[in-house]
Amino acid sequence: MKIAVIGAGYVGLVSAACFAELGHEVVNVDNDRAKIAMLEQGQVPIHEELLPELLQKHRGRGLRFSADVRQAFSWCEVAFICVGTPPSPNGEADLSYVEGVARELALALKGHTVIVEKSTVPVGTCEAVRRTMLLHGADPRDFSIASNPEFLREGTAVSDFLYPERILLGVSDEESRKKLSAIYMPLLDGSYYERDDAIPGPTRPARLLVTSVRSAELIKHASNAFLALKISFINAVSTVCEGVGADVRQVAEGMGADSRIGPRFLTPGIGYGGSCFPKDVLAFRSVARSVGYDFQLLTEVMAINESQKERFLAKVREALWTLRGKKLAVLGLAFKGGTDDVRDSPAIEVVRRLLQEGAHVVAYDPAAMEKAKALFADGEIAFASDAYEACTGADAVLVLTEWQSFLELDLLRIRGLLKLPILLDGKNVFSTGVVEKAGLLYCGIGCEGSAFPLHAPFSQVSEDRSEMAEAGAQVAGEFTSALQALSQ
Ligand code: UGA
Repeated sequence: MKIAVIGAGYVGLVSAACFAELGHEVVNVDNDRAKIAMLEQGQVPIHEELLPELLQKHRGRGLRFSADVRQAFSWCEVAFICVGTPPSPNGEADLSYVEGVARELALALKGHTVIVEKSTVPVGTCEAVRRTMLLHGADPRDFSIASNPEFLREGTAVSDFLYPERILLGVSDEESRKKLSAIYMPLLDGSYYERDDAIPGPTRPARLLVTSVRSAELIKHASNAFLALKISFINAVSTVCEGVGADVRQVAEGMGADSRIGPRFLTPGIGYGGSCFPKDVLAFRSVARSVGYDFQLLTEVMAINESQKERFLAKVREALWTLRGKKLAVLGLAFKGGTDDVRDSPAIEVVRRLLQEGAHVVAYDPAAMEKAKALFADGEIAFASDAYEACTGADAVLVLTEWQSFLELDLLRIRGLLKLPILLDGKNVFSTGVVEKAGLLYCGIGCEGSAFPLHAPFSQVSEDRSEMAEAGAQVAGEFTSALQALSQ
């Protein structure tokens, strides 16, 4: 199939590379000429596992890049719209880029083309694309409009695409259903997984869901809103856990063992972020409002999410008392592990608040430092070349992104580098025991250790915890002296 993918952002670039991997002829179009030039030269603008391999494999063969949108439209049989839909000030999605593509399509179509909306958009957008095209002179016999939302997570987008749990087609005619099913056939009939050169993954046949266009549009918004709700729910539960002395990790495991609930998306932290959840929850609430329904549950989801950052900052203040002049090591700046994306990153927001309160921040992130640098003025924060450098001489270390590689850090070494032995874990990456064994005081979210050393005198804590390693007890003593020195 001849496929044009409009937009070379996270969704567009991954989709284009994966369509080429499935054996289609693909042109990925973007009006950012610099980005196209970069892609043509073999550079990869985003950090995404397996994407460099796919681009290397298909660039110049099944996959071309172009800034000429009209040429691509007049050549392709199917066009996927993957342009950005950023939030506008009132919370609604800004659809001006989608509208721009619709206008171009109307002018360029040659022969029958299936136009597929893949960006996350409010219900009714496909209908608006159709109207725009007709207004700009397109012949209704020349095109069909379909919705094919993506469920890709940044960081694992390539495997999510090639090993999907579901493929969702929102169609209004047989031509669209046929062409889209044909495009995804290697995943539906499993033939892709039998190929010797297939990207390895958890082989399972994808489930095909064919719905109306409007239902497909709604499924995407409702899915993201539900996942955000799940995160806010466990964040709220973590607050209760802290109050009653329960451990949210155990509570989440117990809840998740019920298949009706499921174990995923039950990790509490400083809140969800990224380019999808914050924008999509807001946009979905706007969709509800536009039909006269006040979706208050979503308002609460957003409020809980915001409060998580405040609650974490309160923990930092409790552990360190005042922040002015304190040096804080920050591990993680990306909105989640496995990506270099810092858009709407809770970690960045926490860093900003720490700076406002006068702290000095030395940050390290395995992938997101380049992108984070652009968000701060020169010298506003320092960047370290690794976690150990960030921790050297710091009053505490704050973990703000769930990078798996942080679990491999030598905590004993970190303990030796820090001025005060405090680890505040905003993403519950570490377990209390492991951190305390290294002689560090641990404060996570909603778990045992969170109240330590915040609500109990140190002498009492070290006596009560007979199992605490000798090193830990010694550290608690040192810490008490440090606190006493500070308060004098
Ligand atoms: C999300 C969805 O998971 C994808 O299915 C969807 O396709 C995508 O949005 C999109 O609409 O394009 P993504 O934004 O890449 O994917 O990231 P997630 O893995 O969902 O994480 C989102 C945020 O929630 C991150 O800040 C993460 O740290 C946070 N999170 C996630 C938690 O705080 N706790 C959890 O248990 C899980």
